[in-house]
Amino acid sequence: MQEFADLLATTGVERGLIGPREVPRLWSRHLVNCAVVADGPDSPMVPGCTVADVGSGAGLPGVVWALVRPDLRVTLIEPLLRRATFLNEAVNELGLHDRVEVLRARAEDVERSFDVVTARAVARLPQLLTWTIPLTRVGGVVLALKGSSVAEEVAEAQGSRGLLGAGDMTIQHFGVGTIEPPTTVVLVPRVR
Ligand SMILES: C[S@@+](CC[C@H](N)C(=O)[O-])C[C@H]1O[C@@H](n2cnc3c(N)ncnc32)[C@H](O)[C@@H]1O
Repeated sequence: MQEFADLLATTGVERGLIGPREVPRLWSRHLVNCAVVADGPDSPMVPGCTVADVGSGAGLPGVVWALVRPDLRVTLIEPLLRRATFLNEAVNELGLHDRVEVLRARAEDVERSFDVVTARAVARLPQLLTWTIPLTRVGGVVLALKGSSVAEEVAEAQGSRGLLGAGDMTIQHFGVGTIEPPTTVVLVPRVR
């Protein structure tokens, strides 16, 4: 994780993937914020599951999850060349290439399904569900990492989730007592 932090703080900043002002808070606001969802007894990800990270950007949360959970197989979906190039380099440098792949694509153009589909800072929930639910296998779950507008976004998505095949949404907080604020996640199961 320290190697990934160093990569983000150097190459990531030089290439404009991470703002320079984020560097002092890389661990608290980005790395630990993502890690707490995957690491720990409350994690909704069962051992060995497949994970897609939609709009992975500089690798958040997908690369962090792969680092803290060596059992996961992770697909990073990112359409922008500059970001996909950085992700490929990071995966190779961190020695993750045997279980982390980079797909340079828009989520809506990917025709595969995964046990878990995640996204962080990509789109508001109604739009996000149109991209992530089709990528989730029936019985799988979308884990949308969200900020303070979470309740509002869940309300906005209520009308369309049934048509997409999604079940009841729940909001869960991870890292309580570890980070402040804890990480807020909307869990959306695909039921049909
Ligand atoms: C604000 S960045 C967030 C990056 C990262 N998840 C994070 O938390 O730092 C949003 C990312 O979503 C990607 N994106 C936008 N539309 C997308 C789509 N339709 N499918 C996949 N990725 C998309 C962008 O290229 C960008 O890298």
